Amino acid sequence: TIERTFSIIKPNAVAKNAIGAIYARFETAGLKIVAAKMVQLTREQAEGFYAEHLGKPFFDGLVGFMTSGPVMVQALEGEEAVRRHREIMGATNPDNALAGTLRADYADSLTENAVHGSDSTESAAREIAYFFTESEICPRTR
Ligand code: CMP
Repeated sequence: TIERTFSIIKPNAVAKNAIGAIYARFETAGLKIVAAKMVQLTREQAEGFYAEHLGKPFFDGLVGFMTSGPVMVQALEGEEAVRRHREIMGATNPDNALAGTLRADYADSLTENAVHGSDSTESAAREIAYFFTESEICPRTR
């Protein structure tokens, strides 16, 4: 099934000048970028995006990190895009990320873990709509 997923390249990976290298991983894995932009998140935007984590001990640190510099946000499309994207990202905690995954290669810590990806097609739809209007998404027909 062709799906869409949502991806963030977090401030630490942008600071490493790794946007192109990470985009190459997406494309090599068969994921097509159908929307993309660079954003400096406001505190309100970051808190709203991570609202499900409100009240958790890592929430303030997460919001502080995510607003510390620009991020790249993307919608990715492809066969089983949610699972495929999670595979190439590796485990949330870089200590558990398999060799060759994005987190193994670009994460600095559990908070500064380089990339975010939707955990389900339902989350993907909500997260894509949080950052992109329908007219900003470009279906890839070839
Ligand atoms: P992400 O996939 O963006 O979703 C929530 C983020 O919170 C997660 O990646 C981590 O960067 C961050 N985080 C920090 N501490 C924790 C923790 N203890 N458990 C889960 N996520 C954490």
